[in-house]
Amino acid sequence: MIRINENYLKLKATYLFSEIAKRVSSFQKAHPEQAVIKLGIGDVTRALPQVCIEAFHQAIDEMAQDSTFKGYGPEQGYPFLREAVAVNDFISRGADISPDEIFISDGAKCDTANIQELFAHDTVIAIPDPVYPVYLDTNVMAGRTGSFVSGRYDNIIYLDSTRDNGYIPDLPKVKVDLIYLCFPNNPTGATITRDLLAKWVDYARDNNALILFDAAYEAFIRDETLPHSIYEIPGARDVAIEFRSFSKTAGFTGTRCAYTVVPSSCMACDSSGQKHSLHNFWNRRQTTKFNGVSYPVQVSAAAIYTDKGTVQVASLIDYYLKNAAHIREKINALGYESVGGVNSPYVWVNTNTDSWEFFDLLLNKAGVVCTPGAGFGTCGQGYVRISAFNTFEQVQEAMSRITQALKR
Ligand code: MLT
Repeated sequence: MIRINENYLKLKATYLFSEIAKRVSSFQKAHPEQAVIKLGIGDVTRALPQVCIEAFHQAIDEMAQDSTFKGYGPEQGYPFLREAVAVNDFISRGADISPDEIFISDGAKCDTANIQELFAHDTVIAIPDPVYPVYLDTNVMAGRTGSFVSGRYDNIIYLDSTRDNGYIPDLPKVKVDLIYLCFPNNPTGATITRDLLAKWVDYARDNNALILFDAAYEAFIRDETLPHSIYEIPGARDVAIEFRSFSKTAGFTGTRCAYTVVPSSCMACDSSGQKHSLHNFWNRRQTTKFNGVSYPVQVSAAAIYTDKGTVQVASLIDYYLKNAAHIREKINALGYESVGGVNSPYVWVNTNTDSWEFFDLLLNKAGVVCTPGAGFGTCGQGYVRISAFNTFEQVQEAMSRITQALKR
């Protein structure tokens, strides 16, 4: 009989957000009278910006005529979108990134999951704790970890992000090859200053390491002193790959569009020490395994970079930030300590109790879904993440129910 990839046996049986969905669905079956409010998975609820809708319609009309119809597009994305991304997201911020270094894709989840294929099996990996589970699980699947013991995998260097270090991990004490970072952070909502990010870039340069920088939530940054991209830090383009997404920026979770920046100066070596371009390798991977994002979706994504699009996206983000501020205010008023929710759609709450117990309590007593911090790693134990992605009315209702349920 065919044999399975036994690395899958090391994984927890269910992916975090599937486990939550399962628990919510059985709660709903048992309590059909209770309207559940979802502040768990970071899934947007507001319609696409009007500019994106109009662009979508126009692109569909093009697909309706033989003369303007598009078949396969370039695997790396259409030049109009790569150009708009490079100019607006990087060059305008002083980051030296060119359109041909941008790879358009259907999601930052897939890209952060797939990128590990490029690296050797014995790569020494540093992963924050708590962390978006995709980075870790995909390395488990690829066989880069040992067994799961006391909540952690062997062969992974964990970077603790705790109250003591302000949820910004310290540099690794041992030499690592590959470092995952995410700012604004999922799940804690923490942000990183230019100076601290520069320390990571220096570490990577000094140790021939590579940083995988997930900036999927950069649109929520309102503090102009904070970097939106790692490439705003001098020297980063030689040692960092950055992931971005239109999901949270422009409500594209169901529409699917994202991009990954692989600068042509990013190198990795083979066992004989010879250097190879990661840009070329990622291009080779994408052209082999991916056929690009659909034309209408790319046209729609490009619309966010127009004058009108910029205004509409800002107001979309403002809406969710107002929700986040409301969550913070109400949870803090109950006497719970929290971080995030400023420059970020996630509020990270210290529950002073077991994460899953608190999750169950909110679900059973308030009919509100959050995400248990323990699902993001051992350092998340005792915390829950509350997401600001819902309507303001639902967030108000959720916080009033939580207040009733938790009043001490
Ligand atoms: C989250 O809730 O952490 C994210 O929505 C998950 C994702 O982007 O895949």
